[in-house]
Amino acid sequence: MQNAGIAALGLDWRYLAFDVPPDQLKPAIEGAKALRFVGLNLTVPHKLPAVDLVDVLDESARTWGAVNTLRFEARTTGGEWRPIPAFGDDVPDEVRAVGFNTDASGLLQALREDLRFEPLGSRVVLLGAGGAGRVAALKLAAERVAELFLINRTREKAEALAADISSRYPKVKVEIGYPTSPSVDLVLNATSLGLKRTDPLPLELNRLSWDRVYAVYDMIYRPAQTRLLEAARGAGCRVANGLGMLLYQGTQALELWSGRPAPVELMRRVLRQNVYGA
Ligand code: ATR
Repeated sequence: MQNAGIAALGLDWRYLAFDVPPDQLKPAIEGAKALRFVGLNLTVPHKLPAVDLVDVLDESARTWGAVNTLRFEARTTGGEWRPIPAFGDDVPDEVRAVGFNTDASGLLQALREDLRFEPLGSRVVLLGAGGAGRVAALKLAAERVAELFLINRTREKAEALAADISSRYPKVKVEIGYPTSPSVDLVLNATSLGLKRTDPLPLELNRLSWDRVYAVYDMIYRPAQTRLLEAARGAGCRVANGLGMLLYQGTQALELWSGRPAPVELMRRVLRQNVYGA
């Protein structure tokens, strides 16, 4: 999807994947900087350690405590920092790495566009308090959901997250466990349950009144239809899988690197083709 987007913007760049062992992240970032890379994306397990390895943290990365996008910038003779491509073949010596996070905003864009979900004042059941669940919960709280119900296998992790949300966003009501009154605007799966066909469901189905659940989002995109989404669709809920989140974290990264609007529909088509073969 990135290479399709890059080509459509007429840019002479390539997006490539590199396996980097966790203890090599620092030299990998320094190497990319020395090679005058435009930027990087980072995925598991690099997102948290990168926070301490970049030169500057954008507010998005500082807020969520995780970096998934790096942009390299060089300093002009006038002392301003500009993205590497602004300099053509003549990049100044002084280069810095700026860390961003497009996961949280990518999720929100997907929830809005795929489900027409608006966080303000809503009631959300969040399944999972790992890395992805944490970012989702904090982002939803920042967007002023009214109530968050956290469900996680390891209860202490949900409790720690609830405490974090309550201290940062005191107006949001956070509870551990299922809601006691029926209406729910969104059920969001941020656990890894559903990646395998044999996985149990990430929640107890009979603890929710499905006729009063508006929408269900599963961050998993492969398989396209998890058992959770099947059950929710069967109950008449609006549903979407995590492909939109993957798409939008990527289109937002391309916009950070290029400074131009990403060709979203083209990238969506290419992503779908690569993930589902259709
Ligand atoms: P990610 O970065 O993708 O969020 P993670 O931090 O390892 O990965 O989080 C995985 C999430 O899936 C956690 O909420 C985890 O629950 P625990 O906090 O109890 O570990 C959840 N998860 C993974 N396997 C699970 C299982 N077999 N049953 C229930 N929850 C599971």
